[in-house]
Amino acid sequence: MSNYHIKSLEEYFKIYRKSIREPELFWEEVAEEHFAWRKRWNKVLEWDFSKPEIKWFEGAKLNITENCIDRHLLGKGEKTAILFEPNDPKEEAQHITYNSLHKRVNQFANVLKENGVKKGDRVCIYLPMIPELAISILACARIGAIHSVVFAGFSATALATRINDCDCKMVITSDGSYRGAKTIDLKGIVDEALKECEGVETVLVAKRINSSINMKEGRDKWLQPLLDKASTACEPEIMDAEDPLFILYTSGSTGKPKGMVHSTAGYMVYTAYTFKNVFQYRDGDIYWCTADIGWITGHSYIVYGPLANGATTVMFEGVPNYPDFSRFWEIVEKHKVTQFYTAPTAIRSLAKESLSYLEKHDLSSLKVLGSVGEPINEEAWHWYNDNVGKNQSPIVDTWWQTETGGIMISPIPYVTPTIPTFATMPMPGVQPALMNENGEELQGNLVEGRLCIKFPWPGIARTIWGNHQRYKETYFSAYDNKYFTGDGARRDAVGYYRITGRVDDVIIVSGHNLGTAPIEDAINEHPAVAESAIVGCPHDIKGNALYGFVTLKETGESRMQVNLRKEINQIITEHIGPIAKLDTIQFTPGLPKTRSGKIMRRILRKIACGDTSNLGDISTLQDPEVVQQIIEGRAALE
Ligand code: WT7
Repeated sequence: MSNYHIKSLEEYFKIYRKSIREPELFWEEVAEEHFAWRKRWNKVLEWDFSKPEIKWFEGAKLNITENCIDRHLLGKGEKTAILFEPNDPKEEAQHITYNSLHKRVNQFANVLKENGVKKGDRVCIYLPMIPELAISILACARIGAIHSVVFAGFSATALATRINDCDCKMVITSDGSYRGAKTIDLKGIVDEALKECEGVETVLVAKRINSSINMKEGRDKWLQPLLDKASTACEPEIMDAEDPLFILYTSGSTGKPKGMVHSTAGYMVYTAYTFKNVFQYRDGDIYWCTADIGWITGHSYIVYGPLANGATTVMFEGVPNYPDFSRFWEIVEKHKVTQFYTAPTAIRSLAKESLSYLEKHDLSSLKVLGSVGEPINEEAWHWYNDNVGKNQSPIVDTWWQTETGGIMISPIPYVTPTIPTFATMPMPGVQPALMNENGEELQGNLVEGRLCIKFPWPGIARTIWGNHQRYKETYFSAYDNKYFTGDGARRDAVGYYRITGRVDDVIIVSGHNLGTAPIEDAINEHPAVAESAIVGCPHDIKGNALYGFVTLKETGESRMQVNLRKEINQIITEHIGPIAKLDTIQFTPGLPKTRSGKIMRRILRKIACGDTSNLGDISTLQDPEVVQQIIEGRAALE
């Protein structure tokens, strides 16, 4: 029996028990057998959740790109590492072999060096889903620079905040991007953002859409000519196990986005291990995750996890509905995809279209279907299972977070019996705990509470960039000695976990994690706005829709309110991006607040979702009358 590849339920239980009884020995064996190290660790794990401090494989030396690329060259050099499928189906797909990936990453790494990037420097990557995105990430890792990828759907303001938060000295972008039938002027967004970013010295620009763009003398450089001149050899920088590998921002319920810092060795071991098991990847498989690399799903399960296993990973530039709703299925057939990993919101949007889109394609290559990003509802689960998997491919409902680095709770396909909407059982090494309101751990089965993790796993983020105190407060202060996830969960009669959703002020819209506070802050910038509160309401496709209650400084007439609604969404688009636009805006004379001035979102959530039969205790409200006014205002909106 190998710890690394779980092949039966019996093995799962054995391995799981071992990983809990002897976590250090367990992870040591995994690390020893399956990775290339320049120097062995002195100690497997050092931890203290009260500080919090977590160190895995301390003393070890490695470079993650040697593990993701170099070690596959012997034997797998001509195997496709990245299979790039362009936005336009008429453009040819690109098969980037491990040999070619090695050369291209080295060239890129040399360009970074020639442009002054050194170990430990932060590099912002703002690129569409083109090969340069994966290659630039690996090039940073090759030379020990810390990449900070910003999803290319974020606005200039959001980009600038992220560039400045971690002092990036370079930005890598493209002239523009394709998104279905549209093109987006990415370079224009970067130019706008950089007006606020003094620390950026160089902008490398990949050519994708051949648009004519502005190049700022001395700062902006076309990438391709530099790559063409660069050597294809680049010795990897030898890194410490705990050196930061990357920063990735995630929104919190309050304040500015949190730059989660992931380490090198622990992250590598954890993403590789979970990839192998959750997707049961075998040589020859064609694995496709539809996420954007701008999110953690793409970092861990398009780039690092698959490449560390020598897999073929598909990178898709486009969208599910271009040229029409059959695109995903056409790609599955064309490349004979074996594992397909997507989000419930995508499943729901495809499920509402005609089945004929799907039926004209041969999906028989599929062996495993995955879901991630939000709870998958029963209807979507069955549609996915019946129509895409034809009842033959197990669905892995994978629960995890930007902060966890990799998958935490998930079935192992062909091993764990699945139940719709249940993420089922923890990965080896993961010790979940459900907590009640009094901070006590709930024992036994058939309980529901707040989901915590009580022991470190190698993939956990080590800190928030520049703000360790916030890291401690957000994740380690709610419960003593436990990592708090922000999610609620239920444990059923057999010990399976079902994630019930966020218990904080984070709302997941189309699988995107949005904090209410940053949206409210943006709205409040509007000169006519006094105050605002955002809540989420169930939505058929997006999972949640955003509903905003806005109070104005002076109540305007209704014609003006139409314009105001547009302006408010405009401000949100500028500050965050179009993903955070509100579906409904209700102007109200006031907001329900406790006597201490805290907005009672619980009440607003119920009103917004049309559930006013039982508003719970409103006696602590400063002004209970406002509730009636809001209910009436909601009715008038319809
Ligand atoms: C939040 C984390 C992890 C990659 C994508 C999102 C929700 C994620 C599931 C799932 C129910 C899920 C949680 C979590 N979530 N996967 N399978 N079932 N909820 O990463 O943006 O950091 O969001 O997504 O609420 O806390 P993220």
